[in-house]
Amino acid sequence: MSQVLVASNRGPVSFSLSDDGTLTMRRGGGGLVSGLAAVTGGRGPDGPPSENGAAPEVLWVCAALGDADRAAARQAPDGRLDQAGRDTGGAAVRMLDIPADTFHRAYNAVANSTLWFVHHLLYDTPRTPHFDARARRDWQSYEAYNAAFADALARDAAPGAKAAIQDYHLSLAPRMLRDRRPDLKIVHFSHTPWAPPEYYRLLPDDIGARILDGILGADHAGFLTERWASAFLDCCDLLPGTKVDRLARTVTRAGHVTRIGVHGLGVDGAALRERAARDDVAERARALRERVGDRRLIVRVDRTELSKNIVRGLAAYRELLVNHPEWRGRVVHLAFAYPSRHDLREYREYTEAVRRTAERITEEFGTPDWDPLIVQVNDDFPRSLAAYGMADVLLVNPIRDGMNLVAKEGPVLSERGCALVLSREAGAAAELDSDALLVNPYDVSQTSEALHRALLMPHRERAERCARLAAAATALPPHRWFADQLAALD
Ligand code: G6P
Repeated sequence: MSQVLVASNRGPVSFSLSDDGTLTMRRGGGGLVSGLAAVTGGRGPDGPPSENGAAPEVLWVCAALGDADRAAARQAPDGRLDQAGRDTGGAAVRMLDIPADTFHRAYNAVANSTLWFVHHLLYDTPRTPHFDARARRDWQSYEAYNAAFADALARDAAPGAKAAIQDYHLSLAPRMLRDRRPDLKIVHFSHTPWAPPEYYRLLPDDIGARILDGILGADHAGFLTERWASAFLDCCDLLPGTKVDRLARTVTRAGHVTRIGVHGLGVDGAALRERAARDDVAERARALRERVGDRRLIVRVDRTELSKNIVRGLAAYRELLVNHPEWRGRVVHLAFAYPSRHDLREYREYTEAVRRTAERITEEFGTPDWDPLIVQVNDDFPRSLAAYGMADVLLVNPIRDGMNLVAKEGPVLSERGCALVLSREAGAAAELDSDALLVNPYDVSQTSEALHRALLMPHRERAERCARLAAAATALPPHRWFADQLAALD
């Protein structure tokens, strides 16, 4: 029985199966896992102890994401990976073995192809979305998947325990858990933006209402910025039988009050610097330096994710080389675009579009002794850290993003002070606006000019801005972000 429980789709580790049948464990990716790994037991599986020495004993409930995870979950007593002799990075982890087809429909069809698209405004509305009988069946799987989490949490929670339920995969679980265990204190946290009501209304009415009602089963609903919290309240305003009090920041439904909170998530500076000081990072830095020489460096680090806007970022770099030919031969764009959600056709097509765009730039500008663009697609965490250290300019241009931790990690690890070109639609822009160069992510020319300005920025100004960005980025480390949410339940 645990006093504090966390629930999220992706857990701190996942597994792959090699040909000889052995399971290899690796660290989970994405902002949610990075943030939570630091608070559940003090370190992630790939990380050093964080600033948070006295983390509460947390049980982290997550889903088995594929066959290898399912095999690992089955081998562990009651799905408890930490009790199967595995080093899960200090966290107690229960992995739920949800049937593969239920998981596939809940995760791919509903969470990632529908809710993610709604909150990031990604639909191509003349064609999609298209909610038909099949979408209703997918929705039933989403309900079953949420119920599996609610069951696990209800079973493992001590009387009066606190449950922190994460993200759009689990928007029904708070209500389901309250129905099963009214004694618990429940917080739901959204790591994504929240859609404005005109866009949210693309969802079928009953589904849109169920999602709001699900989150309103929590005692506290947390968002990364004021803007996303306010959009959520706007959507609640349209839900019959619901009363929104903006001053008190509460939503009342069926006699139950949910408080709405804004909890920014930053990075743990000390832990990140300690990780970046290891040999594997120095080795990657040497290899990168050999390829880039003493040229200026524009860096981006993303999952290959539609919302990250990589194609327009590459187009902006191309426009820089066209409009400011003085940079040719003197700058290199290092673009790390790590594979993501390849079960979805949209993501596979987007990956292909990134590849084609990159190829065209290389063909157009490359010379025998200058690679204008280096794209790396194999996920390599130490290499990302090395690139942050070397960057002159960091480009973070998402169409929309809950927060974006790359914009925060980069300045913290920058060795010479990097300039940050940042989309105004990233949650991080609300905290970093005074020192980043903000851009409209759809405006390729503006982004290109911001890159030019960033490259020209005098060294001293760049270093001063970078130091302030790093201070802002570390102001709310994960353990504070998490502690604030738990405190909000008291
Ligand atoms: C975002 C979401 C997380 C998710 C991550 C990676 O940060 O908010 O919930 O884990 O993307 O996506 P994936 O689908 O690979 O878990």
